Amino acid sequence: MQADFEQNAAFHNRVAPSYDARVSGPNEVLARKAFQALVARYVPAGSTLLDFGCGTGLDAMEYARLGYRVLAYDNSRGMVAQLEQRCAAQIASGRISTSDAAYPAFPKQLSQWPAPHAVTANFAVLNSIRDLQPLFEEFAGRLAAPGWMIVSLLNPIHWSKMKTRDWWRDALRHPRGPRVYTVQPSVSYLHFVPALLHAAKPFRLVGRANAGALVRYDAAMPPNEPPTWWMPEGRAPAGLTGKLWHTPAYQLMGHFMFLVLRRDP
Ligand SMILES: C[S@@+](CC[C@H](N)C(=O)[O-])C[C@H]1O[C@@H](n2cnc3c(N)ncnc32)[C@H](O)[C@@H]1O
Repeated sequence: MQADFEQNAAFHNRVAPSYDARVSGPNEVLARKAFQALVARYVPAGSTLLDFGCGTGLDAMEYARLGYRVLAYDNSRGMVAQLEQRCAAQIASGRISTSDAAYPAFPKQLSQWPAPHAVTANFAVLNSIRDLQPLFEEFAGRLAAPGWMIVSLLNPIHWSKMKTRDWWRDALRHPRGPRVYTVQPSVSYLHFVPALLHAAKPFRLVGRANAGALVRYDAAMPPNEPPTWWMPEGRAPAGLTGKLWHTPAYQLMGHFMFLVLRRDP
């Protein structure tokens, strides 16, 4: 039987040439902008970033422009080939290094690279992986201090998922998750925040965001700051949607959730 990582790499090899067009909608563009801004907020320029599941290099290109050294890893050769075209100059100058090693060989690849200060995984990369604990332990053991992990996953309690009968059936069968979300054309899992934090024991939650028609980021640690917002062309959505984002119900909104984690000293 084909392992998840093999099936998903084959799928991403097929979609690689059309991937950028698939993530060019207004919500996706806004989510990417907010994610990159959060990375820049916490990780000083000049640091080394591991872009885990880097895809076609939409983020790696921007991180290099912002002054980071980027270690770009993805187990799909097709996706990395797109990145290599996009970022040819940055690769030639040594600002971006790439690897398309198979997922089981990732720890070896990581040990051969300089220790990154932060790992980023944008656009649901981690939803492809069922058991995240070994990966998080790998990151925790290798990251240079202070050790940031900034990730964007599918929001497991988004209203569009919760309104389906399957979601509730799985809730009874696997209350702690992870839940199988899709099996074709690629395999993905829904990860719930408590289970994620349990898998990421060496890390502490610094803040979290939901990203949809707008993006709301809340710090999880004192000092309690007001939320940070990203809005399409600076305008909040009107009506009920706009109001809900200002209530605790915002956790049901936005297809993506971002978690900002820092390794405990
Ligand atoms: C939806 S794309 C996101 C790409 C990129 N991070 C972005 O923001 O556009 C998911 C990526 O994760 C990669 N991926 C999935 N499972 C992986 C694994 N186990 N190891 C490395 N990369 C993986 C896929 O090949 C694909 O490029």
